[in-house]
Parts: sequence; structure tokens; C-alpha cells
Amino acid sequence: MIDHGKRDLVSIEDLSTAEILELFHHADEFRANLTAWTDLCRGTIMATLFFEPSTRTRLSFESAMLRLGGGVITAADEKNTSRSKGESLADTVRVVGGSYADILVVRHPEDGAARVAARYARVPVINGGDGAHEHPTQTLCDLYTLWKEKGRLEGLEVVLCGDLRYSRTIHSFCYALARFGANIVTMPYPGFELPDYVLHRLRRDFGVQTAAASVGDLPGIAGSSNAAAYLTASKPHQLALFTNLTNVEVNRIDAIYMTRAQRERHAGEETSNYPRLSRSTLGAAAAKDARIMHPLPRVDEIDYDIDDDPRSIYFRQAELGVPMRMALMAYLLGKIQLRAARPAALAVMPGIAAGAGLRCRNERCITNNEGVRYLTRDFRLREAESPPVLSCAYCEREIEARFVGHVQSHIVHRYNAAEARRIKPENRVYFESEAQAQAAGFTCQGG
Ligand code: CP
Repeated sequence: MIDHGKRDLVSIEDLSTAEILELFHHADEFRANLTAWTDLCRGTIMATLFFEPSTRTRLSFESAMLRLGGGVITAADEKNTSRSKGESLADTVRVVGGSYADILVVRHPEDGAARVAARYARVPVINGGDGAHEHPTQTLCDLYTLWKEKGRLEGLEVVLCGDLRYSRTIHSFCYALARFGANIVTMPYPGFELPDYVLHRLRRDFGVQTAAASVGDLPGIAGSSNAAAYLTASKPHQLALFTNLTNVEVNRIDAIYMTRAQRERHAGEETSNYPRLSRSTLGAAAAKDARIMHPLPRVDEIDYDIDDDPRSIYFRQAELGVPMRMALMAYLLGKIQLRAARPAALAVMPGIAAGAGLRCRNERCITNNEGVRYLTRDFRLREAESPPVLSCAYCEREIEARFVGHVQSHIVHRYNAAEARRIKPENRVYFESEAQAQAAGFTCQGG
């Protein structure tokens, strides 16, 4: 593993809440006079490595760097890069993040790819979207826009609608909303619910409680979603907002965040009754003060005839992407300083020590695709007991480890056996099953 001692943005969790708020204020300064900053990053080169299509993310980053006075090099089409000849992402970022560029923005189809890029590049890496994992800079733009519209994030009622399963934007946004103390109402298209690993993380890290939700009549949305749920965070505010979370009635909506069906990640799944926002949705009493949000591109989920409604702010989200990304890059490059502390990093357990046999269960994870050639399967320990939970250090998908072994004796026990508890943390090796332990040369004791 390589530690270059620099700052990356792979997950929205790589920035603390206080850092995000300070970055909003810097974005305001940049936005107040977009053309006044061409000395700040003069001589700096940003490379955009986009192995998936993009309009907003790539061009707004490029615009942001040009407005900061730096230069831009870009690989915008996978077919014209050496990836098409089989070059790994690790090798690509080693080269481009060597003498070619001072900061990289990477978009890649495989979950966890941005963490790989961050590990192998000597310069800061920003995740421009990796598979269905995360899209943290979209979330910065979304939070910034909503914060400017509503003057706060805490206590807002935010409806997330459509494809919540494959949308990386939604995943980053959920973590951030929970952290800022906003309440989330999920209205997924059936079959496109928020993944269990996202829900689990929301519960564990932010104390999110979940209940069924009754949302006021929302034509165009309500009929196409059969499982509205209300997610409210008890941390970091430590407020138990509700004592009886059985069915929460949502009568006031602050934002409706719509997403398109992410067809590139679920070829063939049926979406004929996908939700569609229209004038009649905006006519609902609960949506009177709602802001309509969308990360774009839009396909058919929002009628064009509500674009001019003052509550529609999706083009503003895209516009604010430039000052927000200026602030982020200036920060990661050390051109502006923040008073806020960075978040504590969770230690990574190198693959061999963590569990010679553990394998990420996410078939879209980079460790199960191009990374098979060169990555160790590293994990982070998320929960130590009942049973231990580990998350892939790349895509963050979680695994329950029911067997714990000793790295030297190669003896394995059930996680709740007294012998397992006696193994020092640094000597533990984790497995999902006996078969997995045996395949790695370990012997099971205690049945
Ligand atoms: N919102 C977003 O990521 O748009 P692009 O795919 O156009 O970059």
C-alpha cells in the first residue's frame, strides 16, 4: 500500500461537516467574481481521466481549473486511452499523476476505482463518479445549492425519488444529508430501493432510524413508488426526534431530488412506470415550498414545462458546480486553508492480515474486475463483534465475518467463541465461512 501523505476526495466521508461548510463560504467568494482568481493556481495542471461519459462533471472541473489560472489535460474517451489496450488504472494514474499533472479527477465504471486511483497517484485524486459507489463532488454541489436555497440543511425534509439503488449520487447524498441532520424520505421506483449496505451504514454511523412514511399526494411520483420510508438521524445531534417511528406523515417537503434510471448499470430491468415530475406534482400542497433537484442528465423524469418554475433548481446545481469545484481544488492543492479539522481516518487492514480468503461480494467492485491482476483485497473493520463486520476498502460493501483465525497458528474459531475473543486484534484473520478458511489453509476448531 502506498501512503503519499496527500488529501483525496473519494467518498463524501473524506470531508468533515465543518470542512464542507467552510468550503461553501469559499465557493461563495469564488462565485462573487468568477474571473478574479486566475493567479491562485497559476502553473498548476489538472488531468481529467474519464473512462465513462460526462458533460457536467468533467467540463465544470475543467472550467474551475481554468478560472483558477491553471491548465487542463484530459482523457475524455476511453477508446483513445491505453486502457483500451489493457493498461490498468493504477499504472495510468502513476504516470499521469507523476510529472504530467498536479491533481487528478477520475471517473470510472467500476465501484471502488477512485480509491485505487487515490492509492497509486502521488497527487490528490478527486472521485468524479466510480460505478454505483459514490459521486462526492455532485453531493457538494447539491448540498451547496440546497444550503443557499434554504439557508440550512439541518431538519430539512428531502425526498429521494427514482433509482436509489444504482445512483452513486444518491449514495453520497444520503450519507451527507444524515450527517447534516436532514431527514430523508425515500420513494424508490420498485426494485430500485436504497441498497442494504447504504442503509446499514446510515444506521450504524449516523444512528438513522427508519419508518414507513405517508407522503401527501404527489402526482407522478406517489403512484410509481410503493414503499416510501422515512430516515431520520439521531447523530450527530443526539436528538431522538421521534419516539414512535411507525408511520411518519410528511406534510412539508423541502426538496424533491429526482434521479434518472441508471441504465448503464442495470441493462434490461423494467422501468416502464418510472416516476415523472410534472406541474401536477408541484401543485401538491406538501410541495408548496419544495425545491426540485436533479443531478442531470435528465431523460424523461422531469417535464420540460416546469423548468421555469422558480422551485426548479437543477440547472442551478450544475451552475454552482464551478465555484464549488474551484473551492475544493484550491483546498486540496493547499491554495486555501480551512480552520476545520479533517475527519478521522478508519484504518485499513491489509488484505493478507485481514483475511487471506475474504473476497468482496460486490461483483462490480474493482477488486473483482481489473484489480484481480494487482490489488490485495483490503478491508476495514467496521464492527468488532456480533458478528464482526468488515467493509471492502475500495467499494465499501460490507461482509459479516463469522469465523476468526490466528495469523500464525492458522487455527480458526467461530467469532463468538472464547478462543476467538482471546486473539489480539493485530493477529486476527477474518473469514465468512469454514470453507473459505479451509481454502486459505486454516483449520477450524470448535465446530
Ligand atoms: N451529474 C453528473 O455527474 O453529470 P455528468 O454525467 O454529465 O458529469
